[in-house]
Amino acid sequence: MKTLVIGTGGREHALALALSRDAQVTEVHAAPGNPGIAAFAPVHEVDPMDGTAVAALATELGVDLVVVGPEAPLVAGVADAVREVGIACFGPTAAAAQLEGSKAFAKQVMAAAEVPTAMARVCETAEQVVEALDTFGAPYVVKDDALAAGKGVVVTDDRQEAIDHAAQCGTVVIEEFLDGPEVSLFAITDGETVLPLQPAQDFKRALDDDEGPNTGGMGAYTPLPWAPDDLVAEVCRRVLVPTVQEMARRGTPFSGLLYAGLALTGRGVRVIEFNARFGDPETQSILALLRTPLSALLHGAATGSLGDVGLPQWAAESSVTVVMSSAGYPATSSSGDVITGIDAANAIDGVDVIHAGTAEVDGQVVTAGGRVLAVTATGTDLTQARERAYSGIAEISYDGAQHRTDIARAAAGSGA
Ligand code: AMP
Ligand code: GLY
Repeated sequence: MKTLVIGTGGREHALALALSRDAQVTEVHAAPGNPGIAAFAPVHEVDPMDGTAVAALATELGVDLVVVGPEAPLVAGVADAVREVGIACFGPTAAAAQLEGSKAFAKQVMAAAEVPTAMARVCETAEQVVEALDTFGAPYVVKDDALAAGKGVVVTDDRQEAIDHAAQCGTVVIEEFLDGPEVSLFAITDGETVLPLQPAQDFKRALDDDEGPNTGGMGAYTPLPWAPDDLVAEVCRRVLVPTVQEMARRGTPFSGLLYAGLALTGRGVRVIEFNARFGDPETQSILALLRTPLSALLHGAATGSLGDVGLPQWAAESSVTVVMSSAGYPATSSSGDVITGIDAANAIDGVDVIHAGTAEVDGQVVTAGGRVLAVTATGTDLTQARERAYSGIAEISYDGAQHRTDIARAAAGSGA
């Protein structure tokens, strides 16, 4: 099978890497890709938001499967454009990607499907905002209705900060605060069959001990030794299957990756958000342990034949991913700083250095964005996977490099 991965980030590098190690895959291409992907696969210039251009590239390359990584092209209809030229595409239609593209839409679907989620109000005016904030009380949760690359959500005890954030957005969703550990559970679906992947945990805040602002994600690990045994079955039954059924009932079936961001509250599981694509950096850790050929899952979802694939199989190991960001992330980011030590990190047993925001300039790899790299390591347990990931981090340097030191620490300490 010939494949083409669309996107530039760490998620796309992890997907391309897993496809390159898949015996059923003969060719992996990426567009636009990044220097990490370019080390093992041809990369092609394309505007990932331009569905016609992506479809033309896929046709020219003669690929059997296109995988659209990020949410913005999905919401813009890039997967629709690829399917229109008769090529199988992993990723939902623009209509179905509204599950991520509009938080208000996602709330409507959850209400119709009776999926447990935070109580919420959609607000258009400053008066509605103040009333909703005072109804739910602190901590305040204010979400931009539109896509905001992980930065549209403010959770704060400061009422004025909540009001100010709402004023900067158009439509906002204000909701009740959900207390409890967060879990990312991904499912691959063809619109009917739903295959859950192994749960992972993401670290959203910029600084150790969950301090600092929300980011796109600073690290991840899987499996979750502390999670209840029936978590995956329960989330399938109460969240994933009803959501997929409701989308089909509406005439906008969802195929691709349904990402449920969950809070395990004292009153049970609640959905924090849906995404319409693989999570980043959870995907780096999850794919490192996947033993089922990734191409079978993605192609099965893209062609409506996932029922033939069977439940995903996993290595009985653990995987930890630690993100290295550039100075100022997430408020700002720097670029052009020379990165050294990537090869030394890659040489460590079980370690893959995944590129996210890098560029190649004059033969040198330099920083080019907020999240720069992710070091993913596998190990027999979380303790070994952590040790390897942080050994990899120690090899890599560039001006202003930042990372969290506590990724998977508590879970490893719990005896995993
Ligand atoms: P989202 O983009 O909706 O995933 O929100 C980003 C992050 O904000 C989540 O991962 C949570 O850490 C936090 N968050 C969002 N909604 C809530 C909520 N209702 N209660 C508590 N924390 C939340
Ligand atoms: N890791 C969070 C996300 O991908 O949205």
